[in-house]
Amino acid sequence: MIRPALASDLDAMAAIARQCFGPSAWRRGQFVLDEPETSQRWTLVATPDPNTAAADMPGACVGYLVMALALDEAELQALAVAHPWRNQGIGSALLTAGLTTALQRGAERVFLEVRAGNLAAQRFYQRFQFLEFARRPHYYHEPDETAVLMRWRWTGGSGL
Ligand SMILES: CC(C)(COP(=O)(O)OP(=O)(O)OC[C@H]1O[C@@H](n2cnc3c(N)ncnc32)[C@H](O)[C@@H]1OP(=O)(O)O)[C@@H](O)C(=O)NCCC(=O)NCCS
Repeated sequence: MIRPALASDLDAMAAIARQCFGPSAWRRGQFVLDEPETSQRWTLVATPDPNTAAADMPGACVGYLVMALALDEAELQALAVAHPWRNQGIGSALLTAGLTTALQRGAERVFLEVRAGNLAAQRFYQRFQFLEFARRPHYYHEPDETAVLMRWRWTGGSGL
């Protein structure tokens, strides 16, 4: 299930960020909660399907996505799924919902940056038709690493 993030999700989001990104992870206070429809920034979380998994943790956040909009360009600022929950389609569900919201709010293109060494994430984005268009050396710190810049444009169809 995908829904807007709540204040009660912030601890879980910060814990997932630490697990995924180590010292360069966003801190709890860097996450901004979704505002009403007009918001230029949205934060979505994934929670386990109550019918199939983790009935003991209903509503718990196991992944998150943050996107921001400036005019007709959106940026995917953060996407992460807690390790035990990967490869079950949760990242895809978050990204589909994030891109759908971007289109609804007027985005024509979506950009993102990803560490050059994070080949799994690049492959994941390529499945969504994100294309690499540039590289920026020394973009990341802790550790120093090149950024791969990718862009996405909606080509029609409801499957994104
Ligand atoms: C990148 C990331 C968000 C993907 O999340 P995810 O929940 O594992 O994504 P999905 O399950 O939708 O897809 C991942 C893979 O599982 C496969 N998959 C999707 N649904 C599946 C299912 N039901 N059963 C088995 N495999 C499945 C997909 O084909 C995909 O394969 P690929 O590696 O060839 O792309 C996750 O790996 C992550 O959090 N990584 C660490 C943080 C990170 O790198 N974030 C991006 C920084 S820019």
